[in-house]
Amino acid sequence: MENKLFGKPVIHQEAMRKRIKALGATIAKDYEGKDLILIGVLKGAFAFFADLARAIPIPLQVDFLVVSRLRDKRRKDGGTVSITSDLSTEIKGRDVLIVEDIVDSGYTLTFLKKELLKKNPNSLKCCTLLNKPERRKIQVTVDYICFEIPDRYVVGYGLDYKDKYRNLPYIASLENVVAE
Ligand code: IMP
Ligand code: MG
Repeated sequence: MENKLFGKPVIHQEAMRKRIKALGATIAKDYEGKDLILIGVLKGAFAFFADLARAIPIPLQVDFLVVSRLRDKRRKDGGTVSITSDLSTEIKGRDVLIVEDIVDSGYTLTFLKKELLKKNPNSLKCCTLLNKPERRKIQVTVDYICFEIPDRYVVGYGLDYKDKYRNLPYIASLENVVAE
């Protein structure tokens, strides 16, 4: 059922469920016999993370970190990204899969990869719910993508605008949400 308070879905719950199930099976195949640890990037990835983890039918561990990005248009790198809460698990020698809500400019993911590589994992890949390739400012490899979307600000299913709308059970365009 659509939530009348929060605009129309641009990606429906059922479409996400199907896509995440398929992606979970792919990831399970790719990581069979490996020492997989999923790392959720909070806050945005919390909903996707919970559904993705349950769609991967092999043994794995989970951990989380919190990043914040201060945007500064005057800086060439678009601002500074920092880890405000770090992992509680050792990842050295392990097969790490970063779980992101959305890759936009690419600065956050580039920073995260650089930081996590310092901890010497056996492998490091990234999975994102949404990808906005038109917005990319820095080239970064994204290994698993659920949905590609155009250059439009979206909320819901973990994604926020001013820290709200994360509890929407689907992805909606911000224009639809604030217009209502
Ligand atoms: P990047 O460093 O520009 O790739 O930014 C990635 C982060 O910006 C994401 O993890 C989100 O928190 C935020 N972000 C980018 N685009 C959107 C959007 O359309 N809706 C909500 N958050 C977004
Ligand atoms: Mg994020």
